[in-house]
Amino acid sequence: MIEAREGSIELLEGKIKSKEAKVGIIGLGYVGLPLAVEQAKVGFQVTGFDLNSDRVRMINAGENYIGDVNSGEFRELVVEKLIVATTDMSLLTNMDVLIICVPTPLDKNLIPDLSYIQNVTGDIAAHLRTGQLISLESTTYPGTTREIIQTRLEETGLRSGIDFYLAYSPERVDPGNKRFGTRNTNKVVGGADPESLRVAVGFYQQAIEKVVPVSSTQIAEMVKVYENTFRAINIGFANEIALLCDRMGLNVWEVMDAAFTKPFGIMPFYPGPGVGGHCIPLDPHYLEWKAREYNFQTRFISLAGEINRKMPEFVVDKAARVLNIDSKALHGSRVLLLGMAYKGNLDDYRESPGIDVYNLLQLAGADVVFHDTWTPHVKEHGMDAHSIDLSDAELRKADLVILITKHSNVDYERVSRLSKRILDTRNIIKSDHSNVTLL
Ligand SMILES: NC(=O)c1ccc[n+]([C@@H]2O[C@H](COP(=O)([O-])OP(=O)(O)OC[C@H]3O[C@@H](n4cnc5c(N)ncnc54)[C@H](O)[C@@H]3O)[C@@H](O)[C@H]2O)c1
Repeated sequence: MIEAREGSIELLEGKIKSKEAKVGIIGLGYVGLPLAVEQAKVGFQVTGFDLNSDRVRMINAGENYIGDVNSGEFRELVVEKLIVATTDMSLLTNMDVLIICVPTPLDKNLIPDLSYIQNVTGDIAAHLRTGQLISLESTTYPGTTREIIQTRLEETGLRSGIDFYLAYSPERVDPGNKRFGTRNTNKVVGGADPESLRVAVGFYQQAIEKVVPVSSTQIAEMVKVYENTFRAINIGFANEIALLCDRMGLNVWEVMDAAFTKPFGIMPFYPGPGVGGHCIPLDPHYLEWKAREYNFQTRFISLAGEINRKMPEFVVDKAARVLNIDSKALHGSRVLLLGMAYKGNLDDYRESPGIDVYNLLQLAGADVVFHDTWTPHVKEHGMDAHSIDLSDAELRKADLVILITKHSNVDYERVSRLSKRILDTRNIIKSDHSNVTLL
C-alpha cells in the first residue's frame, strides 16, 4: 500500500515503481502497439486509446496487425488483460501515465500537420487530473510540447511540475530491425521542468534498458529531428553521387562499397529510388518549417529533400534509356515493379518512392504492374493497384523489370534468369548479368 498525498509526485513515483500505475497509450500504430506490449511485459496494466474502432476491436480480440509485434506474446498479454483497448477518451482520467503516439504528417505544401497532437491534447485536457504524467513520443519540431501541449493543459488551471508532469521522449523504433527494439534502444527523455523529468525518467527506466535524460523537452525534440535529418541528408548525398556517377559512366555501387571499407570517418549510406516511410521524407521538413520562424534557412535539409524527391524521376529516365537498348519506348512497354513497400520485409508503403515511379510510368504511357506480397493492395497518392503474381510468364512478358525494394521472399536469381531487362535501383543482383542495369 502506498502512503503519499493524493496527486503528489511521491504517490505517482510509488505507483510506477510498484507497477500499480495505469498506463494509457494514445495512438496504436507502428509506434504505439509495440510500446504497449513492452509496457505490459514489465507488468503495467496498459489501456490503448485509438479512434480507429477496427484496431480497437482487433486488439481486444488478441489479433495483431503490426509486423514488429510478436503475435503469440501479444495474445497472451491480451488474455491476461494486461492490454485492453478503447475508443472512449473519458477513460483517460483513470490513467496515471499517458503516452501520445499519434501521427505527425505534412500537408500538401510540406507544412507540419499538428492536428492529431492538438486533438489528443484537447481530449487529455478535458479529462486531466492531478498526479498524471503525460509524455509525447510523436516526432515533431522543437517547441511542440511546450507551445502546444503545456499551454493547452495549463489552461485547465493545473500546472506542470506541480499538478501534472509533462515530458517529450522520441520513439526511435526502426521497423523490421531484429537487433534493436523498444527495450534495448536508448531512450532520450526531456522534461518540461525538473519534477517532470524525474518522474518520466523513473517511468521509462521500468521498461527500457538505458534512459538518457536531457535538459528540456525542446532538446529532446531537436535530438529526434536531428537524427532523422542526418539520415535524410546522407542519403541525399549518396543519391547526388549516384547522379554524378551516372553522367560519368562510373558504377556508384563499386565506389561506395570500396569507400565503406575505410574503418573510420565514414558511415554506409546508399543511393536508391528515393526515400519513404513516415520518418525520413517528413521529419526534416518539421525542422525546416520551424527554422523559418527564426529567419533561418536550413539549406542542407532543402537540398537533400530536393534530391531525394527527384530520384523517382531519375529512375523513370533511366528506365527509358534501358528500354532504348531494345529500341522500345516507355509508351506501350510492359513494366513490372518489384517491391512497393518503402523498406525490405515490411508492409508499410507510406510515402514509398515506388508509388511515384509507378505514377510517372503510367503518365508516360507504360503498361505498369507491380509485385509485392508485403503490400498486396497499394492505395496512396493517386495509385490504386493490386500486386500481381510473380509467375514465370509475367517475368517473361515484361519488357522491363525495375527492382525497387529488396524483400527476402523474392528469388532474384530466377528474376534475373527470366527477365528481358532489369533496372536494379538497390544493387540487389550482385552478379554480372548482361540484362541488368544498375541505378
Ligand atoms: N513508424 C515509424 O517507424 C516511426 C518511428 C519513430 C517515430 N515515429 C513517429 O511516431 C508517431 C506515430 O507514428 P506511427 O507510424 O505509429 O503512426 P500510425 O499511423 O501507424 O499510428 C497512429 C495511430 O494513431 C491513431 N490516432 C490518430 N488520431 C488519434 C486520436 N486523436 N486519438 C487516438 N488515436 C488517434 C490512428 O488511428 C493510428 O492507429 C509519428 O509522429 C511518427 O513520426 C514513427
